[in-house]
Amino acid sequence: MKDVPLREQSIVLIGFMGVGKTTIGKAVAKKLYRDFIDIDEEIEKKFNMPPSDIFKEYGESIFRQTEKELIIDSCKQKLKIISVGGGAFLQDEVRKACLSECIIFFLDLSWESWKERISLLIDSRPVLQGKNIEQIKELFENRQPIYKEHHSRVVTDDLPVEEVADYITASLKTAWDIYEPN
Ligand code: S3P
Repeated sequence: MKDVPLREQSIVLIGFMGVGKTTIGKAVAKKLYRDFIDIDEEIEKKFNMPPSDIFKEYGESIFRQTEKELIIDSCKQKLKIISVGGGAFLQDEVRKACLSECIIFFLDLSWESWKERISLLIDSRPVLQGKNIEQIKELFENRQPIYKEHHSRVVTDDLPVEEVADYITASLKTAWDIYEPN
């Protein structure tokens, strides 16, 4: 987004499902006085049902199509904090839109820490359902390359939400001051 000042560009949070994109996104939004957009929640509102029901009723491709449209639309808006689902970056168009319009933070959680959260996630994440632990690990590893395209990475292992949010806001402020000094 060449014509939008860095300070006004929206921030996108990416990473595998359940790494804390929504919780951390809300905390960052509060610290920066910005609106927060949760793409999964927007999809849910549109269909009036959670992602697992959308997958069952309409299929994954309809979910992905809606996800793509909503992300491309949200990326065009300024001054937002946007959390996108863990599978969103599988789509080229989504990755390209986010990379060109927004500042992308990758929330990187190790497999060892992530696997402790499985029981909290399994019921609400259709792509985990029906898979054993080896298959889930394979999905986790296969997804890592799609998160490589980011502007900044935060290793979130063992860090409380507030600390991650503080790190993100501090690094943004540093970048704004370097590249767009007042
Ligand atoms: C998905 C991740 C979910 C949600 C949907 C599909 C995925 O979002 O979009 O269940 O394919 O990784 P979270 O990353 O917020 O869990």
